[in-house]
Amino acid sequence: MAGFRALLFALAMAFVCMDRAFVGANFSKNMIITWGKQHVNMSGDNLSLVLDKSAGSAVRSKAAYLFGSIEMLIKLVPGNSAGTVTAYYLSSSGNTHDEIDFEFLGNTSGQPYTIHTNIYTQGKGNREKQFRPWFNPTDGFHNYTIHWNPSEVVWYVDGTPIRVFRNYEKEGVPYPNEQGMKVFVSLWNADDWATQGGRVKTDWTQAPFVAECLRFRPKACKWKGPVSISECAALTRANWWTSPSFSQLSSDQLARMQQIQTDFMIYDYCKDTNRFQGVMPPECSMPQF
Ligand SMILES: *[C@@H]1O[C@H](CO)[C@@H](O)[C@H](O)[C@H]1NC(C)=O
Ligand SMILES: *[C@@H]1O[C@H](CO)[C@@H](O)[C@H](O)[C@H]1NC(C)=O
Ligand SMILES: *[C@@H]1O[C@H](CO)[C@@H](O)[C@H](O)[C@H]1NC(C)=O
Ligand SMILES: *[C@@H]1O[C@H](CO)[C@@H](O)[C@H](O)[C@H]1NC(C)=O
Ligand SMILES: *[C@@H]1O[C@H](CO)[C@@H](O)[C@H](O)[C@H]1NC(C)=O
Repeated sequence: MAGFRALLFALAMAFVCMDRAFVGANFSKNMIITWGKQHVNMSGDNLSLVLDKSAGSAVRSKAAYLFGSIEMLIKLVPGNSAGTVTAYYLSSSGNTHDEIDFEFLGNTSGQPYTIHTNIYTQGKGNREKQFRPWFNPTDGFHNYTIHWNPSEVVWYVDGTPIRVFRNYEKEGVPYPNEQGMKVFVSLWNADDWATQGGRVKTDWTQAPFVAECLRFRPKACKWKGPVSISECAALTRANWWTSPSFSQLSSDQLARMQQIQTDFMIYDYCKDTNRFQGVMPPECSMPQF
């Protein structure tokens, strides 16, 4: 009986601790400015990033995370955003780093943004998939969420999964499950490549360019060093991301993702046989979700 009570208490504490990890998280408390101090305005749940000819801007989270969901609402640079890139990604550091990316490549007025996704595991990337937004990403805030757990990584846009990267570690494909990653958001000039392959340059007469973010919510396991590799992956109720319901998309989610990929995916590295000279990355021949 005492043992049972102790277990209940431990479970209750686990929930309290899990809650503390993200309830009350906001930009000004959980992030620091890493570039362009005069170009960043962080106030509670609001963050605005400015790019002009002198500099862009960037912030990153103080903490690193391993597994869970990182949520943020973003309103991209409106109007002529050609040449600008708004990046929102998770990354560890070092030569064999892990990284999960959303990048938003701007365009001339009236032309569509590109939603660029990529994932690096143990330092190796080259896994781009790109999408056209099916909505206007500059007319209001949209929800961009990165979820990862021991089984899969899922990129969500407004609650719809657009891409999955499954754990094929047993098949020799490294998976991002051993390094805490921090959350980064930045706005910078990339007119040497971003828009129509670099042909369209940033029009500085339109500066300053502003991207706005709202409600940063890291609902994720806080990285406390190597001990977190097993702690964050443990099958406990506090680690909600390890519940079987997160190990695969539901049939409804899968159908929605396949529709988005059919209608809005404009690049898929797994289909780029020229680039890989016929030797495709191993995960490309395995089920993609
Ligand atoms: C920063 O944001 C606050 C609150 O939204 C606003 O009052 C202030 O004018 C902003 N400052 C700059 C420099 O944009
Ligand atoms: C950010 O969160 C902290 C901790 O919950 C809180 O004390 C602070 O007031 C928040 N800041 C704003 C501006 O909401
Ligand atoms: C935060 O951004 C929202 C949406 O743009 C705005 O309505 C609100 O006034 C902003 N709050 C602060 C404190 O800047
Ligand atoms: C953002 O999307 C995630 C993933 O679908 C969802 O869990 C979360 O509730 C959404 N947040 C908001 C504020 O809509
Ligand atoms: C910009 O618009 C052009 C023309 O519609 C399109 O080809 C291109 O893919 C769009 N996006 C970027 C980032 O260049």
